[in-house]
Amino acid sequence: MSILCGKDILRTDLLSDEELELILSTAARFEGVLEAGGRLTNMEGQVLATLFFEPSTRTRLSFETAMLRLGGQVITVADPKTSSAAKGESLADSMRTVEGYADVIVIRHPQKGSAQEAADAVAVPVINAGDGTGQHPTQALLDVYTIRKEKGTLEGLTVTLAGDLKNGRTVHSLVYLLARFGMRLLFVSPPGLEMPADITADLRKMGAEVSEGSDLAAAMRQSDVVYVTRIQRERFDDTAEYERLKGSYVVNMDMVRQAKPGIIMHPLPRVDEIAPEVDAYEGAAYFRQAANGVPIRMALLALVTGRE
Ligand code: CP
Repeated sequence: MSILCGKDILRTDLLSDEELELILSTAARFEGVLEAGGRLTNMEGQVLATLFFEPSTRTRLSFETAMLRLGGQVITVADPKTSSAAKGESLADSMRTVEGYADVIVIRHPQKGSAQEAADAVAVPVINAGDGTGQHPTQALLDVYTIRKEKGTLEGLTVTLAGDLKNGRTVHSLVYLLARFGMRLLFVSPPGLEMPADITADLRKMGAEVSEGSDLAAAMRQSDVVYVTRIQRERFDDTAEYERLKGSYVVNMDMVRQAKPGIIMHPLPRVDEIAPEVDAYEGAAYFRQAANGVPIRMALLALVTGRE
């Protein structure tokens, strides 16, 4: 039985090194089977509920693809307006209800901490697909999986994380994984959107080398991986402030040509942070990164239900 059987996946800082390696190796095994044209039936007879109280393309659809690729079935709330949350039902009551229908639940919700609240309400495994400005652990896992595939290692790399580091839950999850591998982390953000100080302090306590600044081109000249994020309009109370900051960074081919050769990642969706001309660059990894969501989420579904 897997060490992750019956567990919730809520935050990357709660995963042990052993659990992380198990997720990555299981994903690689599943991906190999699919690439060889094989068929998997690990989740046959099981039902996944995907409850999305915020918009999503990649996370919801890749979880659903993962479940279908493992022979399981899916029920979904893709639009909260169509669920009884719109009538005022509490999150805990919704979770207790869905627990009667599904063997594993994936939830995205606008409130930080909501995934923990959801998990506390039920006995079935709960996977956090993004809780407000909190964490997005499955994105971070597929990001690490992507870096290892693209660069061939996770050791000793320099990684730039750029954009809205204050509100970006993907980077809040990712940095806790990168710090375990002795990576050098360069944080680049416009003033006011810096990485939260408690996270930076945690990373330094873990022994990570962390630098903060606002010059993206300079950071790119030193980096093996450049991880670009969107300025998160939905997290701003002040629209004028969003409008002022939204174009702070745009990666274009001039910048790429002057940078250290490496890969460019983005959790997507992008708005205008990476110019479309960059898509043809061989190191533009963001669509390959999105595709890696399927094997990683296959691994997570199988591991937390003990069906790996
Ligand atoms: N990366 C990510 O979470 O994308 P979606 O919002 O489309 O799920």
